[in-house]
Amino acid sequence: MDEVAAQYEHYPYPERDPADEARRLITGSPSDLAEIDHFLFGGKRDWRQPFRALVAGGGTGDGLIQLAQQLDDTGCPAEITYLDLSHAARGVAEARAKARGLSGIRFLTGDILQAPELGRFDYVDCCGVLHHLEDPQAGFDALAKALAPGGGIGLMVYAPYGRTGVYPLQAAFAALFAGDAPAEKVALARAALAALPESNWFLKNTGLSDHRASDAGLYDLLLHARDVPFDVEALLAALQAAGLELVSFTEPARYDPARYLPNTDEFRERIARLDLASRMALAERLAGDLRSHVCYAVPAGRAGAAMAKPTPEAVPRLAGIPAAALAGTVSKRGRITIDYDGVKHRIDLPRDSARLIALIDGRPLGRIAAAVGLDWIGFMQAWGPVHRGLTGFNRLRYSRFACA
Ligand SMILES: C[S@@+](CC[C@H](N)C(=O)[O-])C[C@H]1O[C@@H](n2cnc3c(N)ncnc32)[C@H](O)[C@@H]1O
Repeated sequence: MDEVAAQYEHYPYPERDPADEARRLITGSPSDLAEIDHFLFGGKRDWRQPFRALVAGGGTGDGLIQLAQQLDDTGCPAEITYLDLSHAARGVAEARAKARGLSGIRFLTGDILQAPELGRFDYVDCCGVLHHLEDPQAGFDALAKALAPGGGIGLMVYAPYGRTGVYPLQAAFAALFAGDAPAEKVALARAALAALPESNWFLKNTGLSDHRASDAGLYDLLLHARDVPFDVEALLAALQAAGLELVSFTEPARYDPARYLPNTDEFRERIARLDLASRMALAERLAGDLRSHVCYAVPAGRAGAAMAKPTPEAVPRLAGIPAAALAGTVSKRGRITIDYDGVKHRIDLPRDSARLIALIDGRPLGRIAAAVGLDWIGFMQAWGPVHRGLTGFNRLRYSRFACA
């Protein structure tokens, strides 16, 4: 058996106990339906139409369960296919679905290279898988071929600079523990970690914590048999070779180099000379804390139409911040702060925009404008900073996602 396949039989990832489904739903990106609608369907998908989704390399089911539960809660018709090489991971994912009473999911054991043989999908979800393939490009190609017309892909791949320290340690542990049984490798790796000198780059990288979460996490992070991260350029090249085009990273503001450089004409001019791809690549190198890239992509030529725009019909939805709480903070401080493992990003939002934010309750922008007595042009002047600031960090999406 291939070493990667063997690893995920031994340590299904991430480590999950189906009993925990009774007390919480794990959510994240990709795999959130409002987010998918925002980035792939212009925020206008008609969710009464069946949603055909493939969760490729679904592991123990985090993305699968999130998708299936959201669709079930809202009564939206869906056909969801789960695909993974690992029988053990599938067993956990199936048990989690059962614990939630989520029926009708098609569970398949197999390689994501088989995706085009499984049907045509409106959405393909592939989180944390492609960087483990022997031939990642073949994986990108297969997922692209599995798309139905108008469909798109949600991806997560590892990124190199934010994982500084991981790769030398993976190589060191591979040399030390070659031939050892998985459980022994984990025990030895824990012992080695405890003795590492302060100078070790993995110890200095405070953004990494998977090794503390579980044995499966430690194995995935530091004992993986095949883990080749993608920088921005490599990711864009792989998408292009597969006939795909980036719609957006989920947090596009983190890919803006201006955020990490002096706010002067000198630097602004130099940034402006670069094309968008080079700017994003530059941001990745300057920021240093991007441990993965989460993005949405569609067949080439469709990216411009895929992402939602703030129109009168667009329905804004906040992610992770209740409207009343956000409006309160904005009216008091005129800014909010977003924290990624201690790295703080400040978003300035005019105090006056709090009255618009407070009205984010499922109504479209046109009705928010009417409620505050603004014509569309006046409204967009006031809404612009909210749109730019919050979509930049994936805290605001547009979606009419609702079925029941
Ligand atoms: C790091 S886990 C990610 C699981 C899940 N997508 C998540 O984000 O929680 C990677 C998964 O990809 C699966 N995998 C790796 N290579 C694969 C391949 N060629 N075809 C299908 N699944 C694969 C592994 O078995 C494992 O379950």
